[in-house]
Amino acid sequence: MPASLNLSDQRAAPDSSNAQISDADYTFLCKLVYDRSRINLGPDKRVLVTSRLAKRLRQLGLDSYREYCEFLRTPGSGDELQLLIDRISTNHTHFFREVKHFEFVEKSILPAWRANPAARGTTFRVWSAASSTGEEPYTIAIHLAEKLAPAEAGAWLIEATDISTRVLDIARQGVYEAEKLAGVSAEQVRRHFQKGMGERDGQFRVKQELRARVQFHHLNLLEPPYPFAQPFHLIFCRNVMIYFDRPTQTSLVSHLADWLVPGGHLLVGHSESLSGISHSLKLVQPAVYRKPLN
Ligand SMILES: C[S@@+](CC[C@H](N)C(=O)[O-])C[C@H]1O[C@@H](n2cnc3c(N)ncnc32)[C@H](O)[C@@H]1O
Repeated sequence: MPASLNLSDQRAAPDSSNAQISDADYTFLCKLVYDRSRINLGPDKRVLVTSRLAKRLRQLGLDSYREYCEFLRTPGSGDELQLLIDRISTNHTHFFREVKHFEFVEKSILPAWRANPAARGTTFRVWSAASSTGEEPYTIAIHLAEKLAPAEAGAWLIEATDISTRVLDIARQGVYEAEKLAGVSAEQVRRHFQKGMGERDGQFRVKQELRARVQFHHLNLLEPPYPFAQPFHLIFCRNVMIYFDRPTQTSLVSHLADWLVPGGHLLVGHSESLSGISHSLKLVQPAVYRKPLN
């Protein structure tokens, strides 16, 4: 087993598709992932993990998880840990997911923003805290572009973050296959996307004016302090807490609350109730929480 792997010098790829992982190696991988990301894999994720890693073993020219774990133990293999997390994290997302949140933004959050004289001339700040491949922050951008006139709110911006560098690369491109745009109306596609031509036929790119509103950064939610300059009016932290245990969720919600302006809102996934964890936010409706004014 080499101390470091030279990917440009790969051997004939062995067939790792049927490689079995021992209990000890699986426990090691779970702990490594948990320590870095707090993603709790557990015994029921064993098949999922091995199926997601089989291709990686082939790329590295390894034919056993024992060798892969040894590689991860090698000093300087930090990039591989990032790749491991990229592969095992679940990045499923889509445009206008959990549409009730967008209705709430339109019907409650933006009217309150408009009615607040102190808001005039300031920037409406939104954080998409587990942005995956970009569908969530671009949905927010489409929604704000349509519902918030620049003259009303001065300006708005979206910070979008994720632990996975792979999904961030995709998100920054803002290019989606046609079938990914289910949920986006034909009119919205026309207004906010550029249709690909030639080799790009069947693909759509988010228009530059919307891409310019979204800043993507690599950020592990479990490694505060977060590097923002100012707090947010609205934080989307959806469908990520479900992977964390209760103590991790409690600490994360507390850090997110610190990054809300008084009266700001936290939106979580509809399957991620905060009941059972202690926090300072008020439940407004399912999956919507508000930071008290004082
Ligand atoms: C299922 S996707 C949810 C995407 C989007 N928020 C939505 O609801 O459609 C979960 C995302 O959380 C990211 N993630 C997992 N652990 C994370 C962590 N510790 N810090 C930041 N992002 C994390 C994953 O990389 C993945 O892109």
